[in-house]
Amino acid sequence: MRKPFVGGNWKMNLDAAASRTLADDLARAVATDRLDQACDIAIFPPFVYIRHVHNVLRDRSSSIMLGAQDIWPDPSGAFTGEVSAPMLKDCGVSVVLTGHSERRHVIGESDELINRKTRAALDAGLQVILCIGEKLEERAGGQTDQVNERQLRAGLAGVIPDQLSRLTIAYEPVWAIGTGKNATPADAQDAHTKCRSVLASLFGADAAGRIRIQYGGSVKGSNAAELMTQPDIDGGLIGGASLKAEEFLSIVRAAAAAPSKGR
Ligand code: PGA
Repeated sequence: MRKPFVGGNWKMNLDAAASRTLADDLARAVATDRLDQACDIAIFPPFVYIRHVHNVLRDRSSSIMLGAQDIWPDPSGAFTGEVSAPMLKDCGVSVVLTGHSERRHVIGESDELINRKTRAALDAGLQVILCIGEKLEERAGGQTDQVNERQLRAGLAGVIPDQLSRLTIAYEPVWAIGTGKNATPADAQDAHTKCRSVLASLFGADAAGRIRIQYGGSVKGSNAAELMTQPDIDGGLIGGASLKAEEFLSIVRAAAAAPSKGR
């Protein structure tokens, strides 16, 4: 069975005090309602607040995983401004995002760099959420499946079967991120099925059936249930709606309540 997985990507938001408060509110609610029994949960603060959030989660013995929004592939050296896998692990991080659309399209990361980051994180024993998804013009041109396939094949080149239990894919159509528009549940399900067949061609059907594929792009409390009940949607990667504890928790609850998926 694939346990749903919901991540809160805080992006470049909040300050130290607000990061602590949000982490604390989430940790308390997850423990009280035992939400972690039916859903894995991770939060991704900005680098500078990772320590603050780590301390809150540690003090509450929380099962919420601490995530980083980015990583640099080399372990150390002359890479001004960058942060490596050993540094992230040292700060209590267990999961990282790679290939997020803002890093692909605003910052200009290539498939090749995203692949190096993905492999470096997996080689270091971290979990990875590899984000993929098409832009509006690519969808309009009927290229959604090709773009997803290219980003999956390039992003996962060199990943070995032993590492797959630490891999999650996030399908996030770029036109749906932060825009209030989201794919219909049927369109999202269709994209997820196609992504799973690409994973099957790379790693075999059994392995592909175990890899979680999150949906992302304007997910909120009010639309989470219809997305999370789709048979190939295994949780979500949440941006804007992860900045308010109650809104994020309502998405976690929808994912936790969805019928079990996979074998
Ligand atoms: P959004 O962002 O929920 O604000 O659309 C999702 C993401 O970028 O992961």
